[in-house]
Amino acid sequence: MILDFKGRHIISIKQFTKEELEYILKAANQMEKYYKTGSDLLKGKILATLFFEPSTRTRLSFTSAMYKLGGEVISLSNPEMSSIKKGENLTDTISVVQSYADVIVLRHELEGSAKLMSEVSQIPIINGGSGTKEHPTQAMLDLLTIKNEMNGKIDGLKIAICGDLKYGRTVKSLAYALSHYDVELYFVSPPSLRMRHEVISDLHSLNVKFKELNDLSEIIPELDILYVTRIQSERFPDPADYAKVKGSYRIDVSMLNRAKENLKILHPLPRVEEIDYEVDHTKYARYFQQAYYGVILRMALLALVLGGSF
Ligand code: NCD
Repeated sequence: MILDFKGRHIISIKQFTKEELEYILKAANQMEKYYKTGSDLLKGKILATLFFEPSTRTRLSFTSAMYKLGGEVISLSNPEMSSIKKGENLTDTISVVQSYADVIVLRHELEGSAKLMSEVSQIPIINGGSGTKEHPTQAMLDLLTIKNEMNGKIDGLKIAICGDLKYGRTVKSLAYALSHYDVELYFVSPPSLRMRHEVISDLHSLNVKFKELNDLSEIIPELDILYVTRIQSERFPDPADYAKVKGSYRIDVSMLNRAKENLKILHPLPRVEEIDYEVDHTKYARYFQQAYYGVILRMALLALVLGGSF
């Protein structure tokens, strides 16, 4: 079946059905051929990347994805150098940029910013991360990584989502994405960085099987996927609270002695100190491969919202 994504905004992982998510993952794997050879599927189309928070992977992988499909990219990556500095509001910026581009990827620290801007914009807005709650394209690439690395199967997996569950947005979007599958989730974090109540209550209503834990050691032998995140130092209202949890967890090679042969470790990156560099050389580390999946996934999203047929 062909699903139609043309002209749609991508704001929240919660807006997608399982069928739609599976369709996007399949489209991403179909992009592999264009990744290798390049393509002119989106020739003549322009992507605008508007990033009001730091980014390496999201902005560059969307840019790479657009170039791989023959499109062009215009970018506002340093708000200090734009009219925002002169006091222009985001709504005006979007109203103007929609005349310059065919699709916008927006990252902003305000909760709900992408949603709000999608109400203003005539062209599709893709949320490249808003506030502490939503990062839908990261969740899609995380799903793609899990699926591809586990031979096409997500059902039946035991997955730990570990780190800053309070301020991290990737962990929340991923939890909602996984709610479509028959998985067992473990939310592992220092007590002060637990998943927020609203997410916990949503997951209960969605009948997701999950447990909240302070420590990885008791479950590590059971895990198929270990998804690690950094502590979001910049989002703590009080730096003293950050100081209390800084360095409170770290994955190292000795912990992995008890892991399953086939365990895969993922991380949305950037890594700060939560995964020892030695882990990179083990068969468990898949976070750099995950960054590659981000490119093909974003190629698929651009092609789908711009209506390219492939
Ligand atoms: C994440 C983000 O921006 O939320 N980065 C990313 O897109 N890979 C994760 C993070 O900043 O910790």
